[in-house]
Amino acid sequence: MPARVLDGTAVANQIRSELAPAVASFTARTGRPPGLGIVLVGDDPASEIYVRGKVKSAGETGLRADVERLPATASLDQLLGVVDRLNRSDVHDGILVQSPLPEAMGADAERRVFDALDPAKDVDGFHPVNVGYLVQNRAALVASTPSGVIELLERSHVTIAGARAAVLGRSDIVGKPMALLLLHRHATVTICHSRTSNLRAVAREADILVAAIGRPAFVTAEFVKPGAAVVDVGITAIRDRQAVERIYPAGSRRRETFERRGSLTVGDVHPEVAEVAGALSPVPGGVGPLTVVMLLKNTLTAANQRAGG
Ligand code: GUN
Repeated sequence: MPARVLDGTAVANQIRSELAPAVASFTARTGRPPGLGIVLVGDDPASEIYVRGKVKSAGETGLRADVERLPATASLDQLLGVVDRLNRSDVHDGILVQSPLPEAMGADAERRVFDALDPAKDVDGFHPVNVGYLVQNRAALVASTPSGVIELLERSHVTIAGARAAVLGRSDIVGKPMALLLLHRHATVTICHSRTSNLRAVAREADILVAAIGRPAFVTAEFVKPGAAVVDVGITAIRDRQAVERIYPAGSRRRETFERRGSLTVGDVHPEVAEVAGALSPVPGGVGPLTVVMLLKNTLTAANQRAGG
């Protein structure tokens, strides 16, 4: 029997409908909407699409979102200047600096930018103060993607307490906060990565498997315990026809989409996993919509905290 679909679009709509009245109430109370400042440096096409989605969703939910653009040639000091201005702005409760930054800014640019954010406005949850709060299980602002995964699991009635969970990937943005959030909900958590020996067998122990490695269709049926809940965080755009043909059978809808668009968004989980897993989040329509809505939720949280609760 194919896996139950963990429907991220439906869960995101549910959260958005809860958020809208809370946003309206903040606006009525303070005379202004919660405000998000998004900083976009350069012209990375994927970032353009993400930022457009965030602005649209913010507007639909009653938040204010302003995009500050800098050219790819901007210096790190210029970017830090924009961050400083947003830190001091009265109308911006949240700040998001879209990753990736242009390589020319230097290898440690992202870290320096995250360190420069006012932790109270850090709606990405990337500032070391917020990461520290997360470790101690008292965070208000947690990275949107892993907190979206938790919402998806909980609202789809997947039991986390007591479950064995495996997180594939150890990034600061997804893997590490994901593992902590699962741990705080009483899962027994293993973090797997490129040096994990016998990765398939370790993953196959898990009742909840979260894949966040950015390698299209890497997680095949052999990685998955029958009946497990599998969450696919990977989003990779594939333009190589042979790669698409290796993953999807002839005549499938996904192949048709590739033919139409010339590219296909593919997750970390191979489609054959649907035959083994008990529940599976699709790509697209799984974690992606939740990431956006959790960012809006964090912006409202930051706004309420700044307005005194
Ligand atoms: N780029 C891809 N995902 C993210 C995210 O969650 N936050 C930021 N700031 N940039 C990203």
